[in-house]
Amino acid sequence: MTNKVLFLPGDGIGPDIIAQTERVLRRADESFSLGLEFDEAKVGGAAIDATGVPLPDDTMAKAREADGILLGAVGGPKWDALDMAVRPEKGLLGLRSGLGLFGNLRPAFLYPQLAEASSLKPEVVSGLDILIVRELTGGIYFGEPRGIQTREDGEREGFNTYRYSESEIRRIGRVAFESARQRNKKVCSIDKANVLEVTVLWREVMEELAKDYPDVELSHMYVDNAAMQLVRAPKQFDVIVTGNMFGDILSDEAAMLTGSIGMLPSAALNESKQGMYEPCHGSAPDIAGQDLANPLATILSGAMMLRYSLGYEQAADAIEKAVSDVLDQGLRTPDIHFEGTRKVGTNEMGEAVLAALDKRL
Ligand code: NAD
Ligand code: IPM
Ligand code: MN
Repeated sequence: MTNKVLFLPGDGIGPDIIAQTERVLRRADESFSLGLEFDEAKVGGAAIDATGVPLPDDTMAKAREADGILLGAVGGPKWDALDMAVRPEKGLLGLRSGLGLFGNLRPAFLYPQLAEASSLKPEVVSGLDILIVRELTGGIYFGEPRGIQTREDGEREGFNTYRYSESEIRRIGRVAFESARQRNKKVCSIDKANVLEVTVLWREVMEELAKDYPDVELSHMYVDNAAMQLVRAPKQFDVIVTGNMFGDILSDEAAMLTGSIGMLPSAALNESKQGMYEPCHGSAPDIAGQDLANPLATILSGAMMLRYSLGYEQAADAIEKAVSDVLDQGLRTPDIHFEGTRKVGTNEMGEAVLAALDKRL
């Protein structure tokens, strides 16, 4: 078996956080004799600057060959004026749809050491461990028709289409139910079935699917209420399953429960468990290249890659424990810093994880 790992640093803080994750993965590779082969390619704005397109053929070809892909982030003000079809974000969306990565796992787990970093009261978030399962290759992000057009009366209008087929709903539902079986056996499906037909169907299919999983409890919630419940009493949730756009929004909200968006990793998997791993946050242009970004979400995404796509549970565990050790030592990037802890930069955080990993071996 080959273990080809492809790094796609992208833009903004992407290269900063991927550099730290690469160090950690290279060390895990040596220490656990994993036999990983590393490669790198361009995506997003970096690819536009080099080749004119956000997802060059060469990058897509390497991505198809890879067993695991680790992406930093794409986008930034430099490319915001470009046409939608050639923006950096299209590179990311093209990878997701081109590789069929429909199943997005976004675990919001609070490291106990970070209870004080959350903007919510420690008792509201302590012990938090929820999993957001977001559909990633359909819904309003990809529905046709879409566009901006000029009507006969001369007024411009923009339009997108929110569309899901039964089979798309069923396959993401299965990911949620199967995940719940490994956890606390509760799935909350989030929709807007009081207004949108597409989510009436979503709810019906989830109900049908639930019959195959009698050991898992299924509930439903409207997305507006869910946004409120996530900050009122987030621990009521175990697995949340939802569509592409609602999942995007709710996962950023859930990130703050864990202290910072810089802590939330993710996996995007296809039918054959090939995966692309990335932090949930963006390219953070405001702090790019300044040694300020928190690399932990990306390092934790690297651990998820070892676990889900490459099958190296032990190495994944060691990295996750090393992250916890570093938090125990009181080291904090600015986004998770609070009184009584020591502020460090991106690089020092990466070095500390390496040192903690060495000690764990
Ligand atoms: P963002 O997530 O980049 O930043 C939001 C805020 O969080 C900023 O204040 C930023 O400094 C902070 N932040 C984000 N990651 C951090 C980290 N690791 N450590 C410390 N602080 C961090 O969201 P945005 O500002 O809305 O978007 C900026 C660009 O990123 C846009 O071009 C957007 O399209 C793109 N984006 C890309 C991805 C991705 O590649 N997966 C995800 C979201 C946004
Ligand atoms: C994310 C991002 C992307 C999304 C953008 C950059 C296309 O916000 O991964 O959460 O909306 O899916
Ligand atoms: Mn997002």
